[in-house]
Amino acid sequence: MIGIFLGAPGTGKGTQAKILGEKLGIPQVSTGDILRQAVRDKTVLGLKAKEKMDAGELVSDDIVIGLVNERLALSDCNGGALLDGFPRTIKQAEKLAGIIEKSTKPLDFIVNIDLDDETIVERITARRVCPVCDAVYHLKHKMPSKEGICDNDSSDLIIREDDKEEIVRERLRVYRDESAPLIGYYKNSDGYFNIDGSKSVNEISDEIYLLIGKLG
Ligand code: AP5
Repeated sequence: MIGIFLGAPGTGKGTQAKILGEKLGIPQVSTGDILRQAVRDKTVLGLKAKEKMDAGELVSDDIVIGLVNERLALSDCNGGALLDGFPRTIKQAEKLAGIIEKSTKPLDFIVNIDLDDETIVERITARRVCPVCDAVYHLKHKMPSKEGICDNDSSDLIIREDDKEEIVRERLRVYRDESAPLIGYYKNSDGYFNIDGSKSVNEISDEIYLLIGKLG
């Protein structure tokens, strides 16, 4: 099974892909997390990507497609994967179609999460993340057990470099120009769902699980 999570920054793609991945027993493949790990490891690719990410711009299609290809070839993806933040351009979607065609795993569903810009800015500016394990928290909606400390590994939580309001607004502009056209690309495909991202985390995850269950 391959599932795709589309949506602007901060709409909850990562939150929902993680929950669904745990329910289905398949990995969440987040290109943002893969790139942030490369930045932490100070690889050549990570150093190239960092500048773009900090500015709220997209990393080049070729780099990201290469990373996804490598990630999907790992054995934990044998049963499928949930793609979070990929594809983000039409070129990436076309390349993904080629990868899927060559594999034995079908594209089962595409979930697009919809949310207005002001709620997005509120959500992202109140997000806190673990710099070690990438766990995601929110100052109101998902607090860690101990303030400012990751539940998984006790690291101090941080604000992502690209979560400052002016960068978030740039990411929204980039989303509209480069990624929103993916809705038109996928919306007539079998298994395409549009989800209202203003509901609670649990309401959304239940809705997605129900819709996917109906695919048979
Ligand atoms: P990436 O990390 O993918 O960032 P993004 O798409 O901008 O998505 P976010 O991680 O900001 O948000 P999300 O939708 O996952 O929301 P979340 O669940 O965290 O990419 C970062 C950068 O890497 C890009 O800008 C680009 O430079 C590069 N990149 C990545 N992929 C690329 C690609 N394919 N091509 C080129 N470049 C690429 O939720 C947000 C907050 O809200 C959290 O605090 C959460 O707890 C809270 N929350 C979630 N759901 C709810 C809810 N229902 N109610 C209340 N709060 C909620």
